[in-house]
Amino acid sequence: MNQDNPLKKIFYAASRTGKMFHRSNAFVRGLMGPVGSGKSVCCVMEILRRAMEQMPDPEGVRRSRWAVIRNTYPELKATTIKTFQAWIPEEVCPITYSSPIQGKTWFRHHDGTFVEMEVLFVSMDKAKDAKKVLSLDITGAWINEVREIPKTIVDAVIGRCGRYPSGRLGIPTWSGVIMDTNPPDDLSWYYHLAEEETPDDWEFFRQPGGLVKVEHDDGSHEYKPNPLAENLENLPEDYYSRQAKGAAEAYIDVMCCAEYKPMFDGKPVYKGSWNSNVHAAKESLEYLPGIPLILGWDFGRTPACVIGQAAPDGQLRILDECYSDDSGVRAFAENQVLPLLARRFPGCRIESFGDPAGAAKGQANEESCFSELEVLGIPTVPACTNEQLPRIEAVIKCLNRMIGGRPGFIVDPRCKRIIRGFEGGYNYAVVGKLMGGGEVKYAEVPVKNSYSHIADALQYLCLGFSPDRIAARTAAVRQIQTVIRKQQSYQYNPLAL
Ligand SMILES: Nc1ncnc2c1ncn2[C@@H]1O[C@H](COP(=O)(O)OP(=O)(O)OP(=O)(O)O)[C@@H](O)[C@H]1O
Ligand SMILES: [Mg+2]
Repeated sequence: MNQDNPLKKIFYAASRTGKMFHRSNAFVRGLMGPVGSGKSVCCVMEILRRAMEQMPDPEGVRRSRWAVIRNTYPELKATTIKTFQAWIPEEVCPITYSSPIQGKTWFRHHDGTFVEMEVLFVSMDKAKDAKKVLSLDITGAWINEVREIPKTIVDAVIGRCGRYPSGRLGIPTWSGVIMDTNPPDDLSWYYHLAEEETPDDWEFFRQPGGLVKVEHDDGSHEYKPNPLAENLENLPEDYYSRQAKGAAEAYIDVMCCAEYKPMFDGKPVYKGSWNSNVHAAKESLEYLPGIPLILGWDFGRTPACVIGQAAPDGQLRILDECYSDDSGVRAFAENQVLPLLARRFPGCRIESFGDPAGAAKGQANEESCFSELEVLGIPTVPACTNEQLPRIEAVIKCLNRMIGGRPGFIVDPRCKRIIRGFEGGYNYAVVGKLMGGGEVKYAEVPVKNSYSHIADALQYLCLGFSPDRIAARTAAVRQIQTVIRKQQSYQYNPLAL
């Protein structure tokens, strides 16, 4: 093993934002920037630096253990580990391709102490490795391209930090999580925490874009090099302008200008039926008291609920959305859905439909999702199917309906996730290119992502919605002849909560 101080071999000067990132001692730090801005290198150097600053143990060894996390194994190997090794070479930190992949350094610090830095490289698509690393005691972690990682995993990683060294070896001099990313969607957890509600002891850093978008009065725009861009000295000339040529606008805005924006490459599930100009209402939709709300539910650990209402002419109006990244259905209904109903729709009546799979008894208790909702006073019936195709068709049927020149389906602007899903977030992922013509091949079922759960809930709502039934009800208010199934309608009284 090499006993030399690796600093002799590494020449690193941080960028302006990089310096601020290094200077911060926040427990969780985010670094966002355009492609090629030096984010990964900055994080590699931050780990090395914190390892060298670790207080020596009684034997004079500065011990620390780090997890380096990436969403997929191919990207971990091809990108993350490559960057790591380019800056902390093999002779300083030999890497063993075990499960998980591990690196270990041992070198003499200039003050005579030793630095022992263990690094575990793990991808979240290898469940066994992820489980192993998330059960270890670590000093800290670097989550590379964190926009690809669910918040629940970030939380789990945070929970493992600060637990090594311990006992007679001392305590971590600094512990925490560093994470870097290209800009995510503005509906992402990262955006929320960086721009809206930053937790105590978290700090977010944003590098300037490589290009700036200049908007003209006539509605056109152009991209110009940004004089404030960082790391240009280590990139090829015209790096950003060159890659912007011919690229899609969303790509340039996100990857070159470093703007928060969604970037979808799959095929939108409702392509050809959804039209933002027609189906996305410009103004908030009014609640019509006296007419029942229609609820659609998706269950599981990422529950979602969509709230709609049929106008007297049969137009289906989607009024609100509720979702959670990590909750059981009961807590979700209790903490989010019921308070929303009480606040926005006091005294409403409800017809509620859910994923039929929710009829199975839970693992934690003997309750099904339907009985949990029943207990809370939201009687819900299983939708007629949870087969993918009829669910999608139910939504398409609603999207394609016109009522006297008006759209038969309209979404309130506050339903940001539903609308983003329609615009492409809910999509068929690209699974490869067909041989020969280079035609793109898509998955047969929609991708599971942060838009799919609310999209599923909307499908159950649309399966439960029947325009004929609504019309009949309007014609004879007191003679509702519904009841395809039992208990579809009930009086919801928020005061009884
Ligand atoms: N401080 C630095 N000194 C010298 N070269 C650097 C420095 N920082 C980054 N580089 C080089 O610049 C290039 C881009 O750096 P890096 O991979 O860290 O960027 P990134 O922001 O992580 O990019 P991406 O968005 O593609 O992940 C690499 O070739 C890297 O070696
Ligand atoms: Mg990178």
